[in-house]
Amino acid sequence: MPRGLFITFEGLDGSGKTTQIKRLAEWLTKRGHLPVVTRQPGGTNTGDRIRALVLDSRSTGLAPMTEMALMFADRAQAISEVIQPALDAGKIVLCDRFTDSTEAYQGGGRQLGSQVVLDLHRLICGNLQPDLTLLLLPPLERNLARARSRNQRVAARTGCDEGRFEAEHDAFHHRVADKYKQIAAREPARVVLIEGDLTIEEVHERIAAAVSARLSRGGSGVPVPNAQSTP
Ligand code: TMP
Repeated sequence: MPRGLFITFEGLDGSGKTTQIKRLAEWLTKRGHLPVVTRQPGGTNTGDRIRALVLDSRSTGLAPMTEMALMFADRAQAISEVIQPALDAGKIVLCDRFTDSTEAYQGGGRQLGSQVVLDLHRLICGNLQPDLTLLLLPPLERNLARARSRNQRVAARTGCDEGRFEAEHDAFHHRVADKYKQIAAREPARVVLIEGDLTIEEVHERIAAAVSARLSRGGSGVPVPNAQSTP
């Protein structure tokens, strides 16, 4: 059985990843693929507990290294429990954030640098690399306003506060965006950068084109559609 296809979504908070992942999952399902959708931090029982701890704005005083270690602990669990088994079964995995997030947020935002993130990725994640990464970078100010207001709405409704990163200063988010751009420039074969003030539909079209191109390349890493699920 060929390995499945590992597709990750990256971007700043409020970049529209969640909407686009949902759209892509529907697009793939219509074409006979049944993608596994997951997110980081989270996506496993252990990961959900790590997510609650690390995103809650009451978790004050977390050292940057602690924050990074928690992200990798979450990722190790997700690889072992969700991602690797799905890839081994030949499935397409859509993952909302992966190690590029750690490089951008802890490496760039928290200024730990890229090298320590890449070293830990090799050690802890067996250097598992996405086949394709869709990096969404709409204008920063619009992003942050959206993320902050969404977080306030969710907190008011559920009492669950995930605003620790959104509450960071603008300089932090600029460093995150800069690091994302560096990653895209370093790995153009893997990372598709979608930037600018685009509509949801325009972003979806670009994503569908990139995934379509990756699927039509064929060869190992491209799952065969599940005939039974074809409408
Ligand atoms: P999101 O799931 O709503 O995108 O939020 C996750 C937050 O966690 C987001 O602010 C980015 C942050 N994060 C990191 O700082 N490092 C990481 O490695 C990951 C996966 C997320």
